[in-house]
Amino acid sequence: MAAVTRTPFIAGNWKMNLDHLQAIAFVQKLAWSLQDAKHDFDAVEVAVFPPFTDLRSVQTLVSADKLPLGYGAQDVSAQDSGAFTGEISGAFLSQLECGYVIIGHSERRTLHNETDDVVHAKTAAALKHGVTPVICVGETAEDLEKHGSSAVPVAQLRAALEGVASDADVVVAYEPVWAIGSGQAATPDQAEQVAAALRTVITESLGEDAAGRTRILYGGSVKSGNIAGFMREPNVDGALVGGASLDVTEFSNIARYQKHVGV
Ligand code: 13P
Repeated sequence: MAAVTRTPFIAGNWKMNLDHLQAIAFVQKLAWSLQDAKHDFDAVEVAVFPPFTDLRSVQTLVSADKLPLGYGAQDVSAQDSGAFTGEISGAFLSQLECGYVIIGHSERRTLHNETDDVVHAKTAAALKHGVTPVICVGETAEDLEKHGSSAVPVAQLRAALEGVASDADVVVAYEPVWAIGSGQAATPDQAEQVAAALRTVITESLGEDAAGRTRILYGGSVKSGNIAGFMREPNVDGALVGGASLDVTEFSNIARYQKHVGV
């Protein structure tokens, strides 16, 4: 595999938390906190994923104050436009200058019955509109017992990447369902094993170059106290953080993991 350096990526998935006014206050504080700590945003990219209704406010703030923070949405429609009540087009996200969109989060797979086909269609829609998909994959506790850790995430990623162009920009997030919101994170070694298997899927689906440059995140009970262990693994390039991304100090400490390696 070609030797490339992948910029570490710390992403905060707010889920259904913080309204647009709270989002403005939060993003301002987060930017101040990181800038105050002299965070090098080129060395570790940081992005937030607020609810749809916050995105316009976040865009306005980021662009007016030239904040070095990225942002994205938590879902996108597979359709471009039309009679799809409640859906949000990738074209709208693109207009709001969203760099990213989370696709196939386990909460959407479980609570909204999103199948691999839906995740595949949404991935294609995001790419069509120039928004980088953050494709989430992960096994449940039951899958883990029956099939081991890699089988389900590998199959999910293979399905999502079918037909995707080899030069497409995607991010992959490995989130074991049993680790989400449970306080029981995977071990760095467990995350590395699955991330390595996922990188092989990227090689098979998109080729070596894509596998070399594509970032694979770990998600599931990431905190400032365990992030450094994940980031030491060669195939883990960042984190998709849920609960801990709602606390400015905690999230900025996660982004600044290089300062507390060994914690
Ligand atoms: P927690 O960090 O709260 O476990 O959530 C992880 C997650 O689902 C991020 O998308």
